[in-house]
Amino acid sequence: MKRIVVLIGGSGSNLEAILQAIQKNHLPLTCAKVISHKPDVLGLKRAQRYQVPTQVIDHLSFAIQDDFEQALIKAIHEVSPDWIVLAGFMRILSSHFIAQFPDKIINIHPSLLPKFRGLNTHKRAIEAQENFHGATVHLVTPELDAGPIIAQARLTMNQDDTPQTLQSRVLSLEHKLYPLVLNWLALGRLTLKDNSILFEEKPIPKQGFMIELNSQEIAS
Ligand code: GRF
Repeated sequence: MKRIVVLIGGSGSNLEAILQAIQKNHLPLTCAKVISHKPDVLGLKRAQRYQVPTQVIDHLSFAIQDDFEQALIKAIHEVSPDWIVLAGFMRILSSHFIAQFPDKIINIHPSLLPKFRGLNTHKRAIEAQENFHGATVHLVTPELDAGPIIAQARLTMNQDDTPQTLQSRVLSLEHKLYPLVLNWLALGRLTLKDNSILFEEKPIPKQGFMIELNSQEIAS
């Protein structure tokens, strides 16, 4: 069975969606460890509920970013994961870190990249009067939120959407999208190689796959 490590820093609702899919035998993976860069976050409790080993590497206890990353690298190597899954991990990782794990780090971002890299994506989508908004799973490269896109899921923006309603609607998409992409990886349908993405051995579309999730199931 292939192994993942999930890196979190907060609520861990994506982590829970992944652990639930594993528990229900919908996702043939082992989650070897959950690492949080913040102590006492809800995500750690969620991991414990699923009997997944947890580790806190508190970024605030390191004066130097390099030392924080070295501790992280060591903690990850200890469990030799096939993939490193970022799920609300709110630290920017250096190119040195990323080079330790080529083609192995994936992230979920709450916007339809390349739109709205960085923070406050929901507020910015409303301000830009977008018709669509959503979430993206991508390969992590040194440029923030700019790695090759694997897949996206979208919703139609409502007139009365606020950053809060969008956050919860987009999270509902994320909770389906991330396990789906991980399932492709686990089954060997999706391959990450030399910074590019192959699906059943063929290059995927440049913008990744647009997954149409049943909008009825997305609370609005
Ligand atoms: C999600 O919106 C994800 O896209 C972003 O951080 C948030 C994490 O939420 N990277 P959670 O901790 O999984 O609930």
